[in-house]
Amino acid sequence: MNDALAIDVRGMTKRFGSLVAVDHIDLQVRQGEIHGFLGPNGSGKTTFIRMLCGLLKPDDGHGICLDHNVITQSEAIKRQVGYMTQRFSFWEDLSIRENLDFIGRMYGIAHRRQAVHDAMRRLGLENRQHQLAGSLSGGWKQRLALAACMIHRPRLLLLDEPTAGVDPVARREFWDEIHALAEEGLTFLITTHYMDEAERCHRLAFIAAGRMLTRGSLDEVVADSKLVTWAVNGPDLQKLIAPLQRQPGVEQATVFGNSLHVSGINPSEVYRAITPYQRKPYFWRQVEPSLEDVFVHLMTRKAVPQ
Ligand SMILES: Nc1ncnc2c1ncn2[C@@H]1O[C@H](COP(=O)(O)OP(=O)(O)OP(=O)(O)O)[C@@H](O)[C@H]1O
Ligand SMILES: [Mg+2]
Repeated sequence: MNDALAIDVRGMTKRFGSLVAVDHIDLQVRQGEIHGFLGPNGSGKTTFIRMLCGLLKPDDGHGICLDHNVITQSEAIKRQVGYMTQRFSFWEDLSIRENLDFIGRMYGIAHRRQAVHDAMRRLGLENRQHQLAGSLSGGWKQRLALAACMIHRPRLLLLDEPTAGVDPVARREFWDEIHALAEEGLTFLITTHYMDEAERCHRLAFIAAGRMLTRGSLDEVVADSKLVTWAVNGPDLQKLIAPLQRQPGVEQATVFGNSLHVSGINPSEVYRAITPYQRKPYFWRQVEPSLEDVFVHLMTRKAVPQ
């Protein structure tokens, strides 16, 4: 990763009638960075991505994407961006190679044979090139999807929920691949609803209702939330949830496996809430809030625009 910015945009805004789907979003992404883009359903992630790659005209905003003006040079940007859309699909009764060749043909790519070959080699698809896409397992399908949006050798990849519905092993393999490609200098902006994937990003941006709520590395986002979390182990934790949730200062009381996480942003209020239960058979310890704790906190916080 270097300090040069692949994306540097400010005030990006998109309205659909009276709805402000993206509301003055600033985003900086360094070259070679894997940047996560998080937010609940309908928060504006896809709309923002479509503006970045020139598929949607912003109502406001300015900046640079891959050295080009994001408002006036969208054609030049499109040529250097690979966009893996939400619910990406391919032709199940064509082989890997045929799918890639077809896509290359559609986009009128020069030196198509070589481009298809390079994309397959980069993603380790050569040995399976004659396999029908419909018979691939989830992880290989995602690799094919990634290869398809890399045929024109983009510098920036915009991946919109690339692993939705994919099993954990395949997701891990896919993310290993993304890290390898980032090492080679490719830049990624990736939306995901999976917190374990978000934790694998170099930096994160978190939006809700079209507005940026927080940005930074995983540690910065967790620290910025000021969230305090206590975990308790013991029998029948379920019955603690309702009384704890009624206490002032308790934002969340949620079971994780064999423990219950209790979170809030006022340390003394949270401590006071758990004090009546600090006795046998309960065992309490303060823990680092998880990214999921922070996500839920950001969603429940009064500051979230509704
Ligand atoms: N073409 C459109 N016309 C009108 N409203 C739209 C259009 N595209 C998106 N919206 C609205 O804009 C808001 C943001 O949608 P968007 O698809 O960007 O959210 P998202 O964060 O990608 O959600 P998800 O996580 O479900 O994919 C939503 O309220 C959506 O209904
Ligand atoms: Mg979306």
